[in-house]
Amino acid sequence: MNTVHTVAQLRAALARARQENKRIGLVPTMGNLHAGHIALVEMARQRTDYVVVSIFVNPLQFGPNEDLDSYPRTLTEDQHKLLDAGADLVFAPSVSDMYPEGMDGHTQVSVPVVSEGLCGGSRPGHFNGVATVVSKLLNMVQPDIAVFGEKDFQQLAVIRKMAHDLCLPVQIMGAPIVRAADGLALSSRNGYLDDAQRQIAPQLYQTLQQLEQQLQAGRQDLPALIEEARARLEQVGFTPDYLDLRDAQTLQPASAETREIAILAAAFLGRTRLIDNLLCKLPS
Ligand code: PAF
Repeated sequence: MNTVHTVAQLRAALARARQENKRIGLVPTMGNLHAGHIALVEMARQRTDYVVVSIFVNPLQFGPNEDLDSYPRTLTEDQHKLLDAGADLVFAPSVSDMYPEGMDGHTQVSVPVVSEGLCGGSRPGHFNGVATVVSKLLNMVQPDIAVFGEKDFQQLAVIRKMAHDLCLPVQIMGAPIVRAADGLALSSRNGYLDDAQRQIAPQLYQTLQQLEQQLQAGRQDLPALIEEARARLEQVGFTPDYLDLRDAQTLQPASAETREIAILAAAFLGRTRLIDNLLCKLPS
């Protein structure tokens, strides 16, 4: 497994793989890899012959008061994990490799409607930053498939729509959320939690599970359900950012008629913002 840092080195390595007629898979990450990322690599390995993992903490998707500076950068440990996972190439560019002329005035990719509200509401500009860097990575690597985690439900919807609307010749795949034994969705930001917060954190998923049970039991008063769930989160120590029930396909607000409901939540524990989701399929 090699690590390259520049786009020229990346293209040279990919040209060799293409000469050997290899199908190429891309797993975009921001590093600080955990078992959730390794599951993405495994999914790409099962479907392609040559797996590229990008590691880039993309400044364009962070807001001014967010954790860009403190975001963990752990390239050496990540390389060991990727070697064990059977990745073929790591692409770890610097900010100036990705944005040689700087980020001001850089072309931005904006995906309307699905980027609005939820994480897009609380993090203005975030999905422009994601869509821009992902479209650059897809153009640089030109993979057959690219794999993203379903934990970032709205992000996956944004990327799918971008690839569809821009006719990008790539198959976008979602990989299931990987959870700790107590149910907490794995995330690089879990490392910010202190011991007391880590004890509380699994209750985010438990709240989503309760909501799912209530929906399955036939409750149709969605606004009341949402309010109760928010109150439960507040009671155990979260500051909810959003908690919502959306149509899983369109991300528009769910109604009593919606059969595939995405239960979506973001909530703060102290300064750490956790997100999670659960797909609820109701009988038609
Ligand atoms: O999900 C992430 O880690 C990032 O948003 C991504 C897709 C790698 C783009 O920077």
